[in-house]
Amino acid sequence: MRVLVADHPLITHKLTYLRDKRTDSPTFRRLAEELVTLLAYEATRDVRVEPFEIETPIAPTTGIKLSNPKPLIVPILRAGLGMLEGMVRLLPSAEVGFLGMQRNEETLEAITYANRLPDDLAGRQCYVVDPMLATGGTLAMTIRYLADRGADDITAVTLLATPEGIAHLEDELADLDIPITIVTGAMDERLNDKGYIVPGLGDAGDRLYGLV
Ligand code: URA
Repeated sequence: MRVLVADHPLITHKLTYLRDKRTDSPTFRRLAEELVTLLAYEATRDVRVEPFEIETPIAPTTGIKLSNPKPLIVPILRAGLGMLEGMVRLLPSAEVGFLGMQRNEETLEAITYANRLPDDLAGRQCYVVDPMLATGGTLAMTIRYLADRGADDITAVTLLATPEGIAHLEDELADLDIPITIVTGAMDERLNDKGYIVPGLGDAGDRLYGLV
């Protein structure tokens, strides 16, 4: 598993405002979207492409275009929705499949409550988006789900991650023989005893969409 921590002053600047508890929901949503676009640039470095013949007004030349099947973007509901727009802006021809996961606040285990994904993902490159890689439980379940259905290259894009979450993913997914990449805006210090990232930004779903 490859882990890329985006090291760019613009990303850290936007993350600082995102973390600030005084930042309201509309600003939080805009910043999350902007951050995803920056992270997606790094996350799509190995997106599959093929040669494409064109003619400029001056001469024929060979460029590239995205290969088929097109990449699949998988936002994990609910907070992952806040990252979808930024991701499709960079990959407008990608398909989108949804996975609803919620964690049990006592056991911190993830359960699936919604699934709108194709059954057959053979040969698909998948981009999972979820702002918080905390315990890593949700992401581990999602990555295994996609790999079991044939996805053969999976990248997760998160705003924040923890060393504990990364260790959990490495442990849980050690048997998967496909490229797995985690791209994150920052590696935070740790998880607290309630499973929140420290210093983190609080509950990403609540900060994006309010309390439900
Ligand atoms: N999910 C969140 O929204 N925030 C955290 O800090 C951890 C998990």
